[in-house]
Amino acid sequence: MAKAFPNSEFVGYDFHPGSIEQARAHAAEHGVTANTRFEVAAAKEYPGKDFDLVAFFDCLHDMGDPAGAAAHVRQSLKPDGAWMIVEPMAGDRLEDNLNPVGRIYYAGSTVFCVPTSLSQEVGAALGAQAGEAKLREVIGAGGFRSVRRAAETPFNMILEARP
Ligand SMILES: C[S@@+](CC[C@H](N)C(=O)[O-])C[C@H]1O[C@@H](n2cnc3c(N)ncnc32)[C@H](O)[C@@H]1O
Repeated sequence: MAKAFPNSEFVGYDFHPGSIEQARAHAAEHGVTANTRFEVAAAKEYPGKDFDLVAFFDCLHDMGDPAGAAAHVRQSLKPDGAWMIVEPMAGDRLEDNLNPVGRIYYAGSTVFCVPTSLSQEVGAALGAQAGEAKLREVIGAGGFRSVRRAAETPFNMILEARP
């Protein structure tokens, strides 16, 4: 994104310091330090206002309080800003996900995503196969009135939420 939109500024947040160090090294390796910066911050506490776009890559379901995170995103956006949520592809019912991709995600989710969420406040534990209906519920709880599935691949769904 930083290469495609050189006149835009990008800031990346994660609450895991090691990931932020890696992101900084990656940005340097790819020559995009001029319009990027990376900082340690939790999803409900990152600073900044009036963002045009906030993007959550494969992390909303890992958060303890995804509805609280949604509310924080909502107040950090411009009135006409957008929130892009990239999440693993999943159906809403367990039986929809009993396929090779779903089986891998459920296994990974059990050892990574669910414990990460349970270790945080609220402990919503959406898991990596949350499904669009559940995701829409937490996004809506954060104050977003419009949600659409903007794109999808066999592995991911990309939702666009707007105030
Ligand atoms: C599956 S990883 C995705 C990492 C990265 N966004 C990517 O796409 O490669 C989930 C990330 O969510 C982060 N995370 C979980 N809960 C968080 C929270 N409450 N605030 C900030 N980051 C959080 C974890 O530290 C982890 O890096």
